[in-house]
Amino acid sequence: MTTKGRLYGIGIGPGDPELLTLKALRLLQAAPVVAYQSATDKESIARKIIAPYLPGNQIEVLYHLPRALEPEQAKSIYDKEIEPIAAHLAAGRDVVVVCEGDPFFYGSFMYVFTRLSEEYETEVVPGVSSLMACPVALGVPFTYYNDILTVLPAPLPAEELITQLLTTDAAAIMKLGRHFTKVRDILHQLGLASRALYIERATMAQQRIVPLDEVDPAEVPYFAMIVIPSKSRL
Ligand SMILES: C[S@@+](CC[C@H](N)C(=O)[O-])C[C@H]1O[C@@H](n2cnc3c(N)ncnc32)[C@H](O)[C@@H]1O
Repeated sequence: MTTKGRLYGIGIGPGDPELLTLKALRLLQAAPVVAYQSATDKESIARKIIAPYLPGNQIEVLYHLPRALEPEQAKSIYDKEIEPIAAHLAAGRDVVVVCEGDPFFYGSFMYVFTRLSEEYETEVVPGVSSLMACPVALGVPFTYYNDILTVLPAPLPAEELITQLLTTDAAAIMKLGRHFTKVRDILHQLGLASRALYIERATMAQQRIVPLDEVDPAEVPYFAMIVIPSKSRL
């Protein structure tokens, strides 16, 4: 009987290849199969981050997880896209699934984990998340002492964003894309715009920091975040 392969979900950080952990690097280079996802048919950002470290003799698996689908539609597509990973594991090959940022913080690896971790032995390695990388790239201390930090996905309804922003000390607003204008208007309405900092593609070669009101809403990429740092200065 074939021994099943082991599944590894490894965080590879927000973009700068030097922000991989030593453990992620070791596991990445040791596995016979490396899998990475792309939301579109375009290049996988995760593949680009790990490119300098690939030894060149591994089987590579690209799987697609399209965004903004209805949950039912997403489920059947994700089930199918993950099949090649399951096939390698069933054949006894270890598979490293690399995940941008941290695997369990809105990570694409979670869709693999929920489908395969009961059947295959699984190890997850944390990564440097964009939540940590963006404030550092912006040069702003994020939370002090007993500050409350709230993480908000921009696709949430405006009323929910307002409710949350009114009761927090610091916030990160993610998944901006086409929701940028809604978020910017709310920040003005709540008097938070002067504290809000916009960054896109943090730590990548194409990193950009742009004043909130100078951002072109039509050009906001998926890899963008608004950081509202704490007002505290202890
Ligand atoms: C699906 S979540 C993935 C989060 C990832 N697992 C992490 O730990 O950073 C994608 C969102 O993370 C944020 N993000 C990820 N990488 C980023 C980067 N390099 N610069 C700015 N925002 C980033 C963006 O808000 C993006 O819409």
